[in-house]
Amino acid sequence: MKNKYLYIETFGCQMNVHDSEQIAALLADIGYKTTDNKKLADLILLNTCSIREKAAQKFFSELGRLVKLKEENPALIIGVGGCLAQHLGGRIFKKVAQVDLVFGTHNIHLLPELISTLQKEKTKIMQIDFQKSLNSIGVFAPPEKGAVSAFVTIMQGCNNFCAYCVVPYLRGPEMSRSPEDIIEEIKKLTDYGIKEITLLGQNVNSYGNNLGNSSFASLIKKIVKVDGIERIRFTTSHPKDLSEELINCFAEEEKLCEHIHLPAQSGSNRVLALMNRGYTVKEYRAKVDHLRRVCPQISITSDIIVGFPGEGENDYQETIDMMEKIRFDSVFSFKYSERKGTAAQNLGGKVDESEKLRRLKELQFLQDEYTLEKNAALEGTGQELLVEGKSKTSGNDMMGRTRSWKIVNIKGDHDLVGKIVNVKISKAYLHSLRGETI
Ligand code: 5AD
Ligand code: SF4
Repeated sequence: MKNKYLYIETFGCQMNVHDSEQIAALLADIGYKTTDNKKLADLILLNTCSIREKAAQKFFSELGRLVKLKEENPALIIGVGGCLAQHLGGRIFKKVAQVDLVFGTHNIHLLPELISTLQKEKTKIMQIDFQKSLNSIGVFAPPEKGAVSAFVTIMQGCNNFCAYCVVPYLRGPEMSRSPEDIIEEIKKLTDYGIKEITLLGQNVNSYGNNLGNSSFASLIKKIVKVDGIERIRFTTSHPKDLSEELINCFAEEEKLCEHIHLPAQSGSNRVLALMNRGYTVKEYRAKVDHLRRVCPQISITSDIIVGFPGEGENDYQETIDMMEKIRFDSVFSFKYSERKGTAAQNLGGKVDESEKLRRLKELQFLQDEYTLEKNAALEGTGQELLVEGKSKTSGNDMMGRTRSWKIVNIKGDHDLVGKIVNVKISKAYLHSLRGETI
């Protein structure tokens, strides 16, 4: 039988990256090999993001380029999945007639059936129903040969309805997988040589709310018992749901890496209330202090939005002030992007694009200074590195991550991949560190 090829392109967050891995695994079962060469593809899938307008624009320009391939290969099937597919549904067919399939965020497990139908009939299919089951996130994706880290989705959806965010509308209500399912998947991953796992969920801190007595901290305590797993990470945490029990895990559980991504979004109480975040700056800072008290070496990263409706110069200065006091290890910062259907759409006090850009640039300039300062503090220290592969930026070097999630480039060859090595940090840069193996 002739090989069939799948080309899959992913936009957006780690959840989408892992969804694409699951899609590739499912379609391998019906004979599709993944390829990086779009021209070779029999099936092209785009896994989309809708968190900000820019992500949506990027997707449409890429889709415009890809559909041209159908002129040379009319049998090519083109499918669109992910958050934007969930949001736009059949409107995608109207915008781009060459699309054959639109599938939603809860329908990944149905893909083999949907693609088989499309192979037999020249038709258009849309499947964007929300499911009551967790079938869509429970698909096992065998890691690539040589991989040392893997994602494990532990829950789907979000109940928080932050005023700016589309996720609760596009990924549905929170639903957690059972600890038994998760542990079984992790054990299977260790058979492939996986040593580090990253637990994924929109708000992992509310893991288990639909399961009775299963908290996120208790899940971590079960996972540390799995032989072969040496490092555990998770993302993303909502500050309001960060429990004392979980904070203590950073002190008690050796396998839990000393890094937390804890999106603050703003340093103004007024803006946080408008955003419906459910905490004050004081409460946020108390959690950061608590984390640093129990685990002094923890690295803390964050997300910040500038130019949320109603954010005045004073509010913005309060964000700057918070960043100056907290000194995050790094920050992902964004201009507020209005999304249809969200509560923030109806708020007054919209901020000009040019003003948002000024705030963003200034904030990023300041954070670069703090990031470099944090990295420089590691010069001369010993760090444990899990080597992931070739360095992306530094010639023939290899790269790995510290437990605190910092990239370190070291001399060495491919044999090091998957190994945990001890290094001494010799030089700090903004986006990486240089290390010498000890
Ligand atoms: N505009 C700008 N940034 C957003 N984020 C989520 N929604 C929006 C939006 N409408 C950011 C938040 C979140 C991160 C994943 O994306 O900071 O933590
Ligand atoms: Fe969006 Fe807020 Fe849910 Fe995160 S917690 S996915 S920002 S609604």
